[in-house]
Parts: sequence; structure tokens; C-alpha cells
Amino acid sequence: MNFTKIIRERRSIRRFNPAPVDQGLVLELLNAARLLYPSREEPAFRCVYAGTADSRERLAACMLEPLVKNRLVKWLPEKVREFVRKRVTDIPGHLIIIAETDADRRNSDMNYAAVCGMMQNFQLLAWQRQLGTLWDTEPMMQSKELFNLLKMNPNERLVGIFHLGYFDKIPKARTRTRAEKKWTVLSS
Ligand SMILES: Cc1cc2nc3c(=O)[nH]c(=O)nc-3n(C[C@H](O)[C@H](O)[C@H](O)COP(=O)(O)O)c2cc1C
Repeated sequence: MNFTKIIRERRSIRRFNPAPVDQGLVLELLNAARLLYPSREEPAFRCVYAGTADSRERLAACMLEPLVKNRLVKWLPEKVREFVRKRVTDIPGHLIIIAETDADRRNSDMNYAAVCGMMQNFQLLAWQRQLGTLWDTEPMMQSKELFNLLKMNPNERLVGIFHLGYFDKIPKARTRTRAEKKWTVLSS
């Protein structure tokens, strides 16, 4: 296994083919991606998986709500609605990751950071198995309807939705800033 190659070559996938995603594989990858951190040890999070046609429709309907309410897109409601609906329902799987928050800022930040670390592990492990991911944090996900569907509590935060599926084409990489440009050596 070449970690450098996986990290360098992993790409966010935005165009999936219709091949189904095995829910067992998603769980296996999640288990492999776990990490621990000081004090609370296990990050406090939960996942909701939408892999059936019906659950993907429900997810799409919730994501559509803010668009439908947006006056700017009122002139094109049907087209926009159908475009977004199809984008969501055509993707074979959606893994929603919800982190607990804490009244203590440090605890909250630590937990959020640990959940994000686990999510990056998940993306890399998925890539190794040729499963594509897109880590989605678009504001349209922050709808009241979606929060209701996910039964979110006030002490929870949506970290992201992983859109999951297999793919035929690997997108081109975007350029990265060299680490040297973000590098200072503390003088003695
Ligand atoms: C925390 C986080 C949030 C992201 N949110 C979005 C998003 O909302 N929409 C999107 O299209 N891509 C999102 N991405 C994917 C990035 O746009 C993508 O990683 C970046 O363009 C680099 O592409 P690559 O992953 O193929 O290297 C997110 C990535 C991360 C790490």
C-alpha cells in the first residue's frame, strides 16, 4: 500500500456511475477510519446513511427546500428543482456525518477536528477501494427540513455529507500551494 500515492491521487468525485454501493463496505470503511483523541478518546458522532431510492428522494426533497424558497430561482423553479433532485437521487449513496458539540469550546473543537480526521481517513480508504467520495458542505444542506429528517438535536452539528459511488473518469487535480510557501523556521 502506497500512502503517498493514495493521498496524491485521490480526487473528489462529482460524476458517479450507477453501480450500487454496498452498505457493508461503507460500514467497513467507517470502522477502519476511526481514530482516538485525548480526554474523550472516541469522537462523539453519528452517521445517517441514505442508500435506497426512497431515502435518496427524501434527502433530495429536504435539500430542495431552501432553493424553492429562494426568490432568485423562482423564475426557474421546475428546472432547478428537477436538476437538484436528479443530482441527489442519481448518486448511489449518501453518508451524513453528524458531530456532537459541547458547551465547552475546546471540547467541541477537539471533537469536530477528530471527526474531520476520521472523515479524511474514510475518503482515503474509500479511494483505495475505487469508491469515489465528495465531501459536501454546501449551505443548501443546512435546511430546517434536512435537520428534521436527520432528527438533529441542538447539541449536534452537521459536518458533511459524503456522496458515494463508483466512477468512470478521474477528474484532473487542482494545483496545491507548496508547503515551503507556508513555512517559517523559528529562529533560535
Ligand atoms: C471540509 C471540506 C468541505 C468540502 N465541501 C465541499 C462542498 O460543499 N462542495 C464541493 O463541491 N466540494 C466540497 N469539498 C471538496 C473540495 O472542493 C475538494 O476537495 C477540492 O476541490 C480539491 O479537490 P480534490 O479533493 O479532488 O483534491 C469539500 C472538501 C472538504 C475537505
